Amino acid sequence: MCGIVAYVGHREACPLVIKGLKRLEYRGYDSAGVALINQHGLSVFKKKGKVVALEHELIGKDIQATIGMGHTRWATHGEPNDANAHPHYSFHRKLAIIHNGIIENYAAIKQALLKKGHTFTSETDTEVLGQFIEDIWENNGGSLEEAVRLALQEVVGAYAIVIMSQTDPTQLIAARKGSPLVIGVGDNEFFLASDATPIVEYTKDVIYLNDYEVAVIKDGQLSVVTLDNTTTTPYVHKVELELEAIEKGGFDHFMLKEIFEQPRSIADSMRGRVKAEEGTLQLGGLRDYLDKLAKSKRIVIIGCGTSWHAGLVAEYIFEELARIPVEVEYASEFRYRNPIIKEGDIVIAISQSGETADTLAAIELAKSKGAIIFGVCNVVGSSIARATHAGAFTHAGPEIGVASTKAFTAQVTVLTLMALAAAHRKGTLSESLFRQLLTELESIPAKVEQVLQAADKIKEIAYIFTYARNFIYLGRGLNFPVALEGALKLKEISYIHAEGYPAAEMKHGPIALIDEDMPVVVIATQDSSYEKVVSNIQEVKARKGRVIAVVTEGDTHLPGMVDFTIEIPRVHDILMPLVSVVPLQLLSYYIAVMRGRNVDQPRNLAKSVTVE
Ligand code: M6R
Repeated sequence: MCGIVAYVGHREACPLVIKGLKRLEYRGYDSAGVALINQHGLSVFKKKGKVVALEHELIGKDIQATIGMGHTRWATHGEPNDANAHPHYSFHRKLAIIHNGIIENYAAIKQALLKKGHTFTSETDTEVLGQFIEDIWENNGGSLEEAVRLALQEVVGAYAIVIMSQTDPTQLIAARKGSPLVIGVGDNEFFLASDATPIVEYTKDVIYLNDYEVAVIKDGQLSVVTLDNTTTTPYVHKVELELEAIEKGGFDHFMLKEIFEQPRSIADSMRGRVKAEEGTLQLGGLRDYLDKLAKSKRIVIIGCGTSWHAGLVAEYIFEELARIPVEVEYASEFRYRNPIIKEGDIVIAISQSGETADTLAAIELAKSKGAIIFGVCNVVGSSIARATHAGAFTHAGPEIGVASTKAFTAQVTVLTLMALAAAHRKGTLSESLFRQLLTELESIPAKVEQVLQAADKIKEIAYIFTYARNFIYLGRGLNFPVALEGALKLKEISYIHAEGYPAAEMKHGPIALIDEDMPVVVIATQDSSYEKVVSNIQEVKARKGRVIAVVTEGDTHLPGMVDFTIEIPRVHDILMPLVSVVPLQLLSYYIAVMRGRNVDQPRNLAKSVTVE
């Protein structure tokens, strides 16, 4: 939610910031703005809409500067318009501020400032914070850095902020609590961004700012202090991210590129971990905790959206293989209950971005109750990865499309490895099945590749259903979470109403919706529930529903019964979601494209949901 970029050094700041904002646009895209300091002083330019609208706004303006910052917004306080776009000037225009997060006590601070005669030009909490900092700075007589620290000590909520002051064109001040902020360290230059993607083109040396830390870049020097003014020594990490990983690489959309990357990303999430020939499975990040996982009395899995669906898949696999009871909870619900965590319970938090506010808060709650927390994250250095005791990265590479695709299959792969490792250690899985599953896992990338070859056929089916108003998705067992995921993909990028159900549940209500206008996508692969699913399909057909069935290759029965079939290769039941989800991703993608939707940046959404 909201993307932040800032630069100070010897380059032209504005084009660099704009390019960075485009890379971060997945985080929010309802308005954008930049602030620069040059001979005209501190200038702010901002515009409702995407970064490209801001670029138009900048045509003909004097934007030459070697210090600048920019913001792309996902609205929380105030509708998306020019006034609410960031950066915001402070009351006396000495400062400009950009912010990602929510200042929960902004109303009380605003009241106090109003009493002092302040006026506001926007409805945002960010403008309040900027004015608050300036007010302390003017009245305290100390440095701007001190004013920032004092103001943030009063703030309740989450923030990543960057501040520029017109009195010092060499200075950027940044701070974080609960929202990500990365500092890029170059040669006599510094970069700030919500993630490393705007930075990697210039430097691989980054510092992940911690909560309650304030970074001051001034006269080419960086210092980091805590809110209570203790100096800290930042650790410089090397980012491994390559530029091509964050570009479209010839595809029309990031989402399509990411769907097609899955043979590679699934292989990457197993790389160095699975060695089927030797019959070994190593998860380095769990090594010291594997016994605890194997002996755990209960596993609680938390996540949101697609990550929650990956958790549902993992529930089946852990229970089946390791015989450990699993509960899967929405992080947003877990955090507001008084959950029972007993000794020996393990909490697994799943998050692609590693920044989801609800998941992060749920982790803190579980930690406070003494749970051991494992993370399954895609973004190295993310807040969730750092908040957990142990875990495994998914190594899917950057996922830029708002709709999660390759992150889901990578999460399911890693969770499957965790379940296999636990079951193997616990002895609930025979050596032969363990080896068989490792071998089958290694064959998954090729099988996903095979599904991708059916893209044109799926496109034709998508064409037929482009103008459907509703969709139902059905699946049983491990394919039930896949049905949920298929429905989520369709609704978030095409804006068609879609619901996923366990196939047998249909007759308890949703069947009333079925008529000749209702497309029903059924995952009907030849697994242990095949016969039951076929009966469910018959129930749909008897009511004239139009069925698109995802079937196992060579199925001769269903093609005569349903309207359309999409064949996928035969896979072990346990690994089926890794393959069966792929045609559903493609179906959603093509329908959304045919409806003219912006698939990578669907309305109202953002990639990383850092507000609750
Ligand atoms: O980064 P996370 O995995 O924690 O994000 C969780 C959800 O916000 C995310 O999966 C969301 O549902 C996606 N848009 C789904 O495609």
